[in-house]
This record gives sequence, structure tokens and C-alpha cells, in this order.
Amino acid sequence: MKKNELLRDKLAEAQLGGGQKRIDKQHQKGKLTARERITYLLDAGSFEEIGALVTHRTTDFDMQDQVFLGDGVVTGYGAIDGRLVYVFAQDFTVFGGSLSETHAEKICKVMDMAVKVGAPLIGLNDSGGARIQEGVRSLGGYADIFYRNVQASGLIPQLSAIMGPCAGGAVYSPAMTDFTLMVEHTSYMFVTGPNVVKTVTNEVVTSEELGGAATHSTKSGVAHLTAANDVLCLQQLRDVLSYLPQNCEELPAPLPYTLGDELRDELETIVPSNASQPYDMREVIGGIVDAESFLEIHPNYAENIVVGFARLAGRSIGIVANQPYSLAGVLDVESSRKAARFTRTCDCFNVPLLVLVDVPGFLPGTDQEWNGIITNGAKLLYALSEATVPRVTVITRKAYGGAYDVMNSKHIGADFNFAWPSAEIAVMGAKGASEIIFKREIAAASDPAAKLTEKEQDYADTFANPYRAAERGFIDEVIYPRETRRKLIRAFASLEHKVAVLPKKKHGNIPL
Ligand code: COA
Repeated sequence: MKKNELLRDKLAEAQLGGGQKRIDKQHQKGKLTARERITYLLDAGSFEEIGALVTHRTTDFDMQDQVFLGDGVVTGYGAIDGRLVYVFAQDFTVFGGSLSETHAEKICKVMDMAVKVGAPLIGLNDSGGARIQEGVRSLGGYADIFYRNVQASGLIPQLSAIMGPCAGGAVYSPAMTDFTLMVEHTSYMFVTGPNVVKTVTNEVVTSEELGGAATHSTKSGVAHLTAANDVLCLQQLRDVLSYLPQNCEELPAPLPYTLGDELRDELETIVPSNASQPYDMREVIGGIVDAESFLEIHPNYAENIVVGFARLAGRSIGIVANQPYSLAGVLDVESSRKAARFTRTCDCFNVPLLVLVDVPGFLPGTDQEWNGIITNGAKLLYALSEATVPRVTVITRKAYGGAYDVMNSKHIGADFNFAWPSAEIAVMGAKGASEIIFKREIAAASDPAAKLTEKEQDYADTFANPYRAAERGFIDEVIYPRETRRKLIRAFASLEHKVAVLPKKKHGNIPL
């Protein structure tokens, strides 16, 4: 009996982390504790802890007198919607959640388990970084985690939530996972903090400006999603996971679905008749996918392209779509990178891709060229070309120039390419094209402006439609917008058992 009491006491002590005072402080900041977060993240009662009694081994700086059971991280496994997941949650109440050698060992243990059994890994980060009292042992611990992040990449989904500080080397583990979510106002990520920035560059900046959720979800693209508080962030993790399989050998689990709403009249009127008038591609997405199923990723970053998960007749799909609402849907450095990354995430986890196209081309200018639009545009071209998941394209309006090729054209391996009657598939817009090829004729005309308009109309009549591409088979079918959903449900169903094998090689060399 006494022995059981000893265990009970130890477990009760572990539950308290760094003690009630520090727990209260955590709550005062509007943050949940590590254990509370795990409770919200996982299905009720499903958590099984591993390593609750682990302690650090440091004796420098009298650390043997400051020992907390669990050593600043709660680790274990549980279920999300009945699916097995491994999880670690850093406990800020113990040495500020800082990472010691043993803290790192605990994280590595659940990472190894997750890979061994093929289950997703979720990390809840809230840490003051390397445990200062441990020096290089702590740095080694980080590197052990980074190495495992890379080994696990593409094998199992890895999701990170940033729910407090995440600074210095600590940022590189979340950065190498598939998704990084941040809590607004209580989390931040940076490689060097405001003090170092001030010393080195003389720049004065707050933590929030430098690396808060707003910054990383709009300026840097480091954060895929943000949430107003811990509870909503944990719900987002559950949502993201619902579109992904357990590992790269499996398919995402479909939700039960009854057909019956395949024809959508609202799709007929979204694209304006004036080709230079914008519209919201999210309305097209809403008209195609299952109700309430679209989860946009990176909604406030590089808004000229929309990416996200949705369900089509209950099955998970990834969507990459030009957004005419923002910069006319042009491809630039950031939107290309964003779409390329999402494409690869879908491809490694067997999520079929739907690409919606309305693209006037690549953004011109020195800013774009000097920032490597060539290399970055190539990332998207490369990522789509090598994706072996089912890939279907719908061109709603413009598909101009090289961007036509890049946006999942038939030529780079798309399985089905559809176009709406409003599609314009050409080398460039009618005005620009006419100005170049009819330059002499226009200059020689008594009324050059009228001649340009006439030539523009000629060019538009010849090329601003989907039929030249359909004649060559570059478009499989020109479809009525209202039947898009039905066509896509059938197309993806027919591709369910697609087999595509890339040539054997060590790995490709995507232009990073
Ligand atoms: N190593 C060891 N202990 C750490 C730590 C670290 N890296 N970071 C924080 N702690 C401890 C603090 O000593 C404090 O201990 P206490 O509860 O016994 O007083 C506790 O964690 C909470 O830290 P505190 O500074 O009071 O919290 P805060 O919310 O005011 O600030 C930070 C949080 C992260 C901004 C601040 O703690 C910090 O700057 N830490 C150092 C970051 C760093 O340089 N890390 C190393 C490089 S990766």
C-alpha cells in the first residue's frame, strides 16, 4: 500500500509541473498549461503519458537542488477523432519550458515512437529556448530533434503549434514540420530577439512586430494559421489533421457522404463577362466542394494564390487556385513558394490536387527578378510536375503564357484538364499580343488606336477561348460551370487507384 502511495505522490507532483504559483502566472498571461492543452487537443480521456517522472541530470549551478518531475515537457500519445497521435507539450512553468538534454530525450522518444508506428506527431511549443545551465548538451538536444524532424518528414504528418516563446535554434524544429500554427498575441518566433536586433542593426522592434503571429501569417509566411487563443489553436490542429492520413502509406480517411447536390447553378455567374474585372476564387471553391469543408491555409499571406484543404464527396483534396481578387491572380515570388510548398505537402501525404486557374502570367519588375521569380516560379513548376497524386485542373478564365504551363497543365502530368467556356488560353492578353505582332500595321494606320482595337478583337476571337487548346487535346473537356462539381467528383473517383512512379533516383533537385 505504501508503495502505491509513493507512486501517487510522485504523479501528483508531476502534475503540478513548476508549481501552482507558476501555473497561476501562466493563466494570468491568457495561456493554458501544457497538460490543459493536451486535454483540449486530444479526445477526452485518451492521453497516456510517457516519462512523467524523468528529471534532468545537471549539477552545474546547483541544479541538483532544482528538480521538477517531467523536466519541462509533457509527452505521450492519445487520440484525435479516434486516430492515434503522438504529442509533446512544453511546460513553461518548469524553467520556462527550456530544453535540457533530458527534455530533448523525451521529445525524441515520442518522435521515434510516432515514426515506428506510423502516426502523426504534434508539438506544442512554449519555451525559453536552450536550458542555459546546460550549454552544449541542450544544443545537442535540439539537433537530435531537428535530425528526427527531417527523417520523419514525408513519412508522418508533423504539426507544430507555437503557444508562447520560440526563439533561437528552437524555431527550426517547427519550421521543418508540415504545419506551423501560432496563437495571436501570446506567441512569437524569431532567430534573434529584439535585444540582439538592436545591438547588431540598431533597429528598434517589439517581439510582436518582429515575430508575432500577425507578422508570420502576413509577412514571412512562417505561420500557416493563427488563432485568437490556445483553445482555438488546438481545435485548428485537429481540423488540419482531419484532412491528412496517418502516414505516407495511407490515404486520408473519407467522411461519409451522400450524393445529390452535384449541379451548382451559382457557378455560372461568378466569372464576370469583362475579362479585367476581378472576382473571388473562394466563391468558385465554395461552389465546388462539400459544404463548410474548405480550410484555407496561409489565408493572409501571398493572397494572390489560395491554397487549402477541402472535401469532395467526403474525400480530402488539396486546392491550389489563382485569386483574381488580389493582384489579378498573378504569380509572384511569394505566391509561387506558397503554392509549391502546399503542393508538396499534399503530394507526400496522398492528398489529391485540384488546381483552379485564372492567371494573367508572372508579375513583372526588378523587385521580382532580383528576388528570384525565376527560381521561385520554378519551385511551383517543379513541385506540380513531380506530384504523383491525382491532379485535376479547371481553367475558369485566363491561362496566359508560361503560367499556363506551370498551373498544372496537361503537359506537366495533370490527369484531367477542364476549362470553362470563359477560359482564355493564350500566350498573353489580346492587347499586349496585338501591340507586338501588329506593331507595323498599327503604326501605319491612319487611326492607330482604332486599328489596335480591331486587331485586339481579332486576336481575342482567335485565341481568347478554350477551343484551340481543346482541339489539340491540351484541354480534355470544355464544361459548363454548373457541372464542375459533378465532373470533379467523377474525375477524382476514377483516379483513386492511379499508379504513378517516378524514375528511380536518390532525390530530385528542386530549385530551393
Ligand atoms: N534556460 C533556463 N531557464 C530559463 C530559460 C532558459 N533558456 N528561459 C527562461 N527560464 C526560466 C527563468 O529563469 C524563469 O525561472 P523562474 O520561474 O524560476 O523565475 C522562468 O523560466 C520564466 O522565465 P521569465 O523570464 O520569468 O519569463 P518571461 O515570460 O518574463 O520571459 C523569455 C520569457 C523566454 C522571454 C525569457 O525567459 C528569456 O529571454 N529567456 C531566455 C531566452 C534565451 O536566450 N534562450 C537561450 C537561447 S535559445
